[in-house]
Amino acid sequence: MEAWYMDDSDEDQRLPHKLDPNQQVTTSELEHLGVFYWKLNADIYENDPELEKIRKERGYSYTDIVCIRKDTLPNYEEKLKMFYEEHLHLDDEIRYILDGRGYMDVRNKDDRWIRIAISKGDLITLPAGIYHRFTIDENNYAKAMRLFIGEPVWKAYNRPADDFEIRQSYVKSLECA
Ligand code: LAC
Ligand code: NI
Repeated sequence: MEAWYMDDSDEDQRLPHKLDPNQQVTTSELEHLGVFYWKLNADIYENDPELEKIRKERGYSYTDIVCIRKDTLPNYEEKLKMFYEEHLHLDDEIRYILDGRGYMDVRNKDDRWIRIAISKGDLITLPAGIYHRFTIDENNYAKAMRLFIGEPVWKAYNRPADDFEIRQSYVKSLECA
């Protein structure tokens, strides 16, 4: 995992979009935004006590696996476009990258984009109410486990979605951080 502030160029979303010079973002900065991160051994995800522990402690009862690749994902182009629309959810978004790579972009307090590069072994959680988006990188491939507390709800609300209570309480939580 590595994170940085994004440039403003509208070039291919799959490029890194680093500033020059690069402006790195630390894990503690991410934690202040409510974004948490674990490094796990994805080779043993089917039987990993560390993953089990996190799931148990945090109540991640549901899991499934999505494979983002042109030949395996139905409506690939359409879905990539959808993932990259700035949106929020009413629940936490929890993703564990089992193979490949991608970028999770999140807005910081000042509404700047932070790009979080996630690759095999990275488990990341985004808080409910944070504006974000996702893209694969130039390798065009990511296999990810989706986790959820209870029955999954994948509904995304594209920005603007400021009237949701969860959005307002998220923004409030930033003030106190
Ligand atoms: C999702 C990612 C793309 O909502 O943010 O599935
Ligand atoms: Ni999302």
